[in-house]
Amino acid sequence: MGMPEILASLKAAGETTRLRLLALCAQSELTVSELTRVLGQSQPRVSRHLKLLCDAGLLDRAREGSSVFYGLAQRGDGAHIARALLALLPRDDSLFMRDRQRLSSVAEERRESAAHYFRENAEKWDAVRSLYVDEAEVERALLGLVKVSEGAELVDVGTGTGRMLNVLAPKVRHAVGVDLSREMLAVARANLERAGLGNCVVRQADMYNLPFAPASFDIATIHQVLHFADRPADVVAEAARVLKPGGQMLIVDFAPHDLEYLRAEHAHRRLGFSDSQVRDWCQGAKLDLVETARLDGDPLTVCIWQARAMDAAHRVEKAA
Ligand SMILES: C[S@@+](CC[C@H](N)C(=O)[O-])C[C@H]1O[C@@H](n2cnc3c(N)ncnc32)[C@H](O)[C@@H]1O
Repeated sequence: MGMPEILASLKAAGETTRLRLLALCAQSELTVSELTRVLGQSQPRVSRHLKLLCDAGLLDRAREGSSVFYGLAQRGDGAHIARALLALLPRDDSLFMRDRQRLSSVAEERRESAAHYFRENAEKWDAVRSLYVDEAEVERALLGLVKVSEGAELVDVGTGTGRMLNVLAPKVRHAVGVDLSREMLAVARANLERAGLGNCVVRQADMYNLPFAPASFDIATIHQVLHFADRPADVVAEAARVLKPGGQMLIVDFAPHDLEYLRAEHAHRRLGFSDSQVRDWCQGAKLDLVETARLDGDPLTVCIWQARAMDAAHRVEKAA
C-alpha cells in the first residue's frame, strides 16, 4: 500500500461518527437502518459516512435483496488498517460504550422477533422446510458425504426439531444437538424418543458459545441455520473450535437467492451464501473447504459445503 492510500484510509477513519461506525461494524454486519438507530443520526448522513468508509476499503458492503449489510473489511490493506485502529480505541470510552449498549438492544429486538417466529413455528417447522427443497434428497446427499469413524461423536448446531440427529445419529456413537429455543428442543426430544435414538442428547445453548471443550467432536453439522445468523462466520468458527483436528464440518444452506419474502415472513436474515463467502469463513476458522455439492431446486438451490479441520502441522503450513 502506498502513502496516498494509507493517508486516504486514515482520513476516512479520522472522524468521530466514522470511527463509531467502524467499531459497530466490527461487532456484527449491520444494515444502514440499524446503524441509523444506534447512532441517532439521519439515514442520508449515515449512508454518506458508510460510503466513505467503503471507498477507503475499511468496510465491506454486501447487498442482499433490498438490504445492504456493512461489515469490517475482510481483505486488503484497508482491513489491516481498520483492525489496527480499532485495537487502539479505548473500550471504556463513554461514546463507544453507549453505542455498544444501543447496538445490543437493537440486536435483542431482532433476536426476539426471530425467537418469536421459532416459538410460533416450532411444531410446524418440518412442514415449513419442505416448502424449499426436497429434504429427502439433501439427507441422502449428507449420508453419502459424512465420514464415519469408530466411536465418532457428532454435534449438530442449531438442531431445531433434531432432524439431522434423526438422520445421522444412527451412523455415530454419540450425537449432541444444540439449540437456543426450548420449544424447538421440546419437539426434538419428542422426535428422538419416537425414533428410539438413545445415543442422542439435545442441549439448550447458544451457537456462538458452545458449552464444549475444544476438539470434542469428529463431525459438526450446521443445517439451515446460518441464514438466520447475525454473524455466520462466528458460528462456523465456534463449531470449528469444538472439532478435532481432521474433523469434518458439513454446512448446509441456500445458494444466493432473491426471495425477499423469506426475510419478511420467515425471519431469514441472509438470502443465501456464495462459495467465496463460505471459503472465507472456513479459512478464518482454520478449516479447509474440501468440496461443495449443489442440489438445484426451484426456486432455491441447497449447497452442502464440506470442510475439514486442519491439524496443527497443516495450520502452520497454511499460515507460512
Ligand atoms: C431453520 S431452523 C433449522 C433447524 C435444523 N438444523 C433443521 O435443519 O431442521 C434454525 C434453528 O437455529 C436455531 N437458532 C437460532 N439462533 C440460535 C443460536 N444463537 N444458538 C442456537 N440455536 C439457534 C433456531 O432456534 C432454530 O431451531
